[in-house]
Amino acid sequence: MTAPVPLSGPRFQTEPARLYREMRRDHGAVTPVVLDGDIPAWLVLGYRELHQVTGDPVLFSRDSELWNQWDRIPDDWPLLPMIGRKQPSILYTVGERHRERAAMISEALEAVSPSELRSYAEKFADELIDAVCAEGETDIVGNYAMLLPVRVLARLYGFSDEQGPGLVTALNDMIDGRERAIAGQTHLASSMFQLLADRRAEPADDVVSRMLAHRGGFTDEEIAQDLMVMMAAGHQPTADWIGNSLRLMLTDERFAASLFGGRNSVADAMNEVLWEDTPTQNVAGRWASRDTQLGGRRVRAGDLLLLGLQGANSDPQVRTDGSTLTGGNSAHFSFGHGEHRCPFPAQEVAEVIARTGIEVVLDRLPDIDLAVPADSLTRRPSPWLRGLTALPVRFTPVPVL
Ligand code: HEM
Repeated sequence: MTAPVPLSGPRFQTEPARLYREMRRDHGAVTPVVLDGDIPAWLVLGYRELHQVTGDPVLFSRDSELWNQWDRIPDDWPLLPMIGRKQPSILYTVGERHRERAAMISEALEAVSPSELRSYAEKFADELIDAVCAEGETDIVGNYAMLLPVRVLARLYGFSDEQGPGLVTALNDMIDGRERAIAGQTHLASSMFQLLADRRAEPADDVVSRMLAHRGGFTDEEIAQDLMVMMAAGHQPTADWIGNSLRLMLTDERFAASLFGGRNSVADAMNEVLWEDTPTQNVAGRWASRDTQLGGRRVRAGDLLLLGLQGANSDPQVRTDGSTLTGGNSAHFSFGHGEHRCPFPAQEVAEVIARTGIEVVLDRLPDIDLAVPADSLTRRPSPWLRGLTALPVRFTPVPVL
């Protein structure tokens, strides 16, 4: 038996597809891994096994209290922000209360008008392009993709346009996890509580007001927690979806038509990314509520199972032709599956923001091209979210709108 695989290291950055293939070959569909500090977990890479785990929220629970490793986890464990204990957000809520909470979020997002959403996305995308279009070159990830989704989400949720830029900086600082992270988180949290207080006093036609009015009677604390999830879980993967799709379109000739106005081809590139290069590679996670068997492994009560979304997307058992289940097929795991999957209206909002963001780039910078060799592009060093550190592009300078 080969040793458990560390869930870290440069190969998640440089060649994840090959790494998942090797894990499957050496360990099977349910691979033993170790997290920081030698903490054991299972990585579920099999499509069928992942279906089983995400489809049975009682046996494979979202309740992190069940974890049999808590006595080994130090207070400064680097993964605590992601695999937390007693976190009151929707992510760790289970059963009926989770269903009510997911309904609150879904209903609040569902009521967003598609045309209004599209017009906010176009407006903010145009503003960001205005800031770079006379230069003839830019990093389209750092100066565009990483600034767009949060701006649109802040507006939909109920923040004013003046607050937008401050929230963008705060969220990106928090995600960055460096010295400004805590200040960013504090700014976001205080802005959210202020917005809640304002909308309790005077409701408006926005997501927060609808969450406050929900029949489930959630507290301000619960709604603020969920807004934080909707902001953070919404922004980064959508930004990476834009960046990874633009990279594909600029480097792979199968998608060259998308650069010359082929709108179907933009949708194809975005779908291909969800199958082959998905923003959410691995997700933490589920906890076994009793001893069980999974993919031939003996899983014990309290074991942590990580969802290997990219691994399952490329499982040869479902990808028998080796490549395309893609082209319009959306049976991938990139938004999760089952009760705790990304809510459907959230997926739609993400899709409109990402597609509009890409289309505005192509409309405004029609001869956009890579400014560096494709093989010099690098990814952030994370086994969780996959995105580019930068995407340098050049184009003929065009006037501000
Ligand atoms: C507007 C953008 C988005 C919003 C507001 C949003 C919101 C959420 C929320 C609230 C959850 C928690 C659901 C629950 O626990 O019941 C969630 C989960 C998730 N979201 Fe999203 N999301 C967005 C975009 C995306 C994108 C672009 C991706 C990937 C391409 C993504 C992938 C996921 C995944 C994988 C999960 C976890 C599923 C699981 O644990 O099984 N989301 N999202």
